Amino acid sequence: MKDKKITIAIDGYSSCGKSTLAKDVAKELGYVFIDSGAMYRAVTYFALQNGIINADSIDVQKLISLLPSINLHFEVNSTTLLPEIYLNNKNVETEIRKPEIAARVSRIAEIKEVRIKLVDEQQKMGQGGGIVMDGRDIGSVVFPNAELKLFVTASIEVRTQRRFDELIQKGITTTRQEVQENLTWRDLIDTTRGESPLIQTEDAIILDNTALTKEEQLAHVLALVNQLISSK
Ligand code: DC
Repeated sequence: MKDKKITIAIDGYSSCGKSTLAKDVAKELGYVFIDSGAMYRAVTYFALQNGIINADSIDVQKLISLLPSINLHFEVNSTTLLPEIYLNNKNVETEIRKPEIAARVSRIAEIKEVRIKLVDEQQKMGQGGGIVMDGRDIGSVVFPNAELKLFVTASIEVRTQRRFDELIQKGITTTRQEVQENLTWRDLIDTTRGESPLIQTEDAIILDNTALTKEEQLAHVLALVNQLISSK
């Protein structure tokens, strides 16, 4: 098993550092990193661009009928060496991080047909192993047989501060209160929706990173991976 490339599923609440962890772990192991949330965000961006989301309502039937025309793929940015998402061959990595997407994505992620399409694409990406994917349903639905499943948590205060710093750094104007309200709202929808809600599977290892640095968190997970690989 030493040379076998495993599958690592990382789930957890919004802004608890899942993507940062997934990126770091993938880099260390030479694995592919996929941020599944970017795919739900890209579909939300598509819906906004195509008049599917108006004020407070979503034209679900129109979105379902247009799903076949949504093509998503990731390409590695040659400078940052990180994968970026493309919607119908247009790089939308910056657009999908904006608050107007964050404010609507949980509603789009509730739609069964959207989930079926994205889960299918995610499973294809992970066919050969050697992948670290983060999201909400990765250990429960996308890769139920993943060799390592992590459930990441952190306090709401720490998560708010991290997301606030990230948005300010990107030049996006917001307030801590706005960020915290969005996170709390998304957590509620993500954990209570009918379709593949965020759950902690029985075989997942909990990782509370409230008091951990990025480096400490990475070291902890790499130790878990090594333990797993050497025990096989
Ligand atoms: O990880 P993120 O904040 O970029 O995810 C954006 C939204 O997409 C989040 O509110 C829930 C949804 N999502 C999902 O339902 N399933 C996933 N595997 C990933 C994200």
